[in-house]
Amino acid sequence: MDILGIDIGGSGIKGAPVNVKKGTLTAQRFRIATPQPSTPEAVGDVVADVAAHFAWTGPIGCTFPAVVKDGVTYTAANVDQAWIGFDGRKLLERKTECPVTLINDADAAGIAEVRFGAGRTHRKRGVIFVLTFGTGIGSAIFVQGVLLPNSELGHIEMNGIEAEEYASDRIRQEQRLSWKEWAARVNEYLHLLAALFTPDLFIVGGGASKKTKFLRHLGAQADIVPAQMRNEAGIVGAALVAQTAIKESRNDGSKPLEIT
Ligand code: BGC
Repeated sequence: MDILGIDIGGSGIKGAPVNVKKGTLTAQRFRIATPQPSTPEAVGDVVADVAAHFAWTGPIGCTFPAVVKDGVTYTAANVDQAWIGFDGRKLLERKTECPVTLINDADAAGIAEVRFGAGRTHRKRGVIFVLTFGTGIGSAIFVQGVLLPNSELGHIEMNGIEAEEYASDRIRQEQRLSWKEWAARVNEYLHLLAALFTPDLFIVGGGASKKTKFLRHLGAQADIVPAQMRNEAGIVGAALVAQTAIKESRNDGSKPLEIT
């Protein structure tokens, strides 16, 4: 079965139908710039445009860059503040006239990486951290393949500021850091997480994962590998969660989720 995956990000809203058995897109990805301000109404209209592009009438799995529980968005670090405490799922179901499952973007990307990407064949299956470095820093934690949702590790404090204000890809660009300077910050962040949680494996995703050069500078005690699903991870993961929701009567990923 195909499910439409839609990934809502700070700069773009991207979607494609997904073959959930294989974890692959069955049509070319369609992208529209995120409206500014990114109010629920404006974002909802763009999500409806993405669904209409594929003439979609079936289930939709959708990501959002915030804490999401039972379809409600509870934070808004890089989106319009009107999303705080807002029933995003209800809005998106009204706009698209389709059943929608809503999940945190990093959790969705993590599910795709663990199921079909860098975590799939890795020998270390214990505690896996998937981190996405973009406008913010997203995190997904898996213990033996089960997701701990909404971990939000981009907001832990480092040097007196939030980690994503120190080591995100946005900060690298804003402060014109060299890859080496930025990698040193990412390295510091990984050491902090390693000291707190002792994971077995870090999967590093987001725009910068393409720069394999920067990974040479990393050296935390856990294994570190680049993400493999590129910019498809969120779309694929969202579709997988929607499939699980259909099977398990709406576990939308905000509850512990067995994905392997
Ligand atoms: C948000 C997270 C999100 C991450 C990546 C953070 O600012 O709080 O929910 O996963 O950015 O988009």
